[in-house]
Amino acid sequence: MIDSNSFREFEHRGWQGIPGAYHQAFGELTTQSIEPLLDAAAVKVSTKVIDIASGPGYVAAAAARRGASVIGVDFSVAMVAAARERHPDVEFREGDAEELPLSDNVFDAAVMNFGILHLARPDQCLAEACRVLSPGGRFAFTVWAKPEESIGFQIVLGAIAKHGDQNVPLPQGPPFFCFSDPDECRRSLIAAGFASPTVVKVPQLWRLPTIDSLFEFMLRSTVRTAGLLRAQKPAALEKIRDAMRAESKRYQKGNAVELPMPAVLASAPEP
Ligand SMILES: C[S@@+](CC[C@H](N)C(=O)[O-])C[C@H]1O[C@@H](n2cnc3c(N)ncnc32)[C@H](O)[C@@H]1O
Repeated sequence: MIDSNSFREFEHRGWQGIPGAYHQAFGELTTQSIEPLLDAAAVKVSTKVIDIASGPGYVAAAAARRGASVIGVDFSVAMVAAARERHPDVEFREGDAEELPLSDNVFDAAVMNFGILHLARPDQCLAEACRVLSPGGRFAFTVWAKPEESIGFQIVLGAIAKHGDQNVPLPQGPPFFCFSDPDECRRSLIAAGFASPTVVKVPQLWRLPTIDSLFEFMLRSTVRTAGLLRAQKPAALEKIRDAMRAESKRYQKGNAVELPMPAVLASAPEP
């Protein structure tokens, strides 16, 4: 059963510890969907934008480069500090996506890049995005495509299923891939008050520097997947690492590894 408070606390603790590691592992990857995300939210010069779960601030900074007026919000004070350091000209605030510290009807666009899958109550966040948008404003978010297509997750979850224990005790959250399903995106956006949702796929490629990078990044630069890995017995973890290395070899290009990691991009206007 989902225990929202424990799950939120688990996620919060996790993100507080990994701003640098997240940037090193995922910075080059999650930035690949920024331009389609901003286009889907119709961000241009003078658009008032909120970047929800802004992390290191990549999306907020890209919106600012388009001439938009942006605020990034993240519940991790460590992430907010990292974002401010990286992008000193952009405003970042500490705040919860499920209870945004902002007034009603103030933004023309709300964007969320790979954030919604980390929330204990994603429907609450969708309702908040709807609340802070002005009528006609647009919301757009991305999540990972299902493991059948997101090869990094296919490899790590496949290795855990084969050599580890998938039922280790961890605070349970909503299913990690629930918004990878376009029907679920549409249903949730409409339930939150949005109209006419659109869902598309954005191709992305994760370029990993070594054959063991996938294991290292999943172990040190994620929250839920890292929790699953760290809870394995040492012998099982070794087998998981070996299996991930063997699978990664299939995607080797020289010394590097290139994994398809497409994003699902959902967007909708506030009526
Ligand atoms: C996968 S990172 C995405 C970061 C960034 N948007 C990007 O494009 O790479 C997820 C971010 O969501 C934030 N987050 C998770 N739960 C949150 C919540 N309830 N409220 C606000 N931020 C949250 C984390 O602190 C982390 O910075």
